[in-house]
Amino acid sequence: TAERTFVAIKPDGVQRKLIGEIIGRFEKKGLKLVGCKLIQPSRKLAEKHYAEHKGKPFYEGLLDFITSGPVFAMVWEGKEVVSTARSLIGLTDPLKSPMNTIRGDFGICVGRNIIHGSDSVESGKREINLWFAKNEIVKSGVTI
Ligand code: CMP
Repeated sequence: TAERTFVAIKPDGVQRKLIGEIIGRFEKKGLKLVGCKLIQPSRKLAEKHYAEHKGKPFYEGLLDFITSGPVFAMVWEGKEVVSTARSLIGLTDPLKSPMNTIRGDFGICVGRNIIHGSDSVESGKREINLWFAKNEIVKSGVTI
């Protein structure tokens, strides 16, 4: 199967009505959407998703924020999709992120950085399995 990555529009991005804008950028780049849903994550899901940040000073606030409202979770597929998605997204800190990236164009705050994208193929697999059931992802080769 083609490379896949997990991308999530965080509660700030959903509230600011950036879902269409963000999907448009991914689609125009040539990536393929193979799964998506609007979901307000449980504390448990958020803890699993952000397990690597446990103990950091911003961890509890990060969990409060990500569980505070609906998240638009997506699975994207394509050639080198993990790094391609990360170049569309930009750097963690929106103020340091170049213009023409999603965070560079729409954010100013590291704790409200609009969108998440997996940082490797491995974490992509882990995150896709956390957020999606198998039957929520269309088969590779299906054209949508
Ligand atoms: P994300 O790509 O979802 O992965 C971890 C998140 O932690 C990151 O985006 C930021 O939103 C958040 N984060 C990282 N550093 C800080 C910080 N110093 N203060 C608050 N949130 C942070």
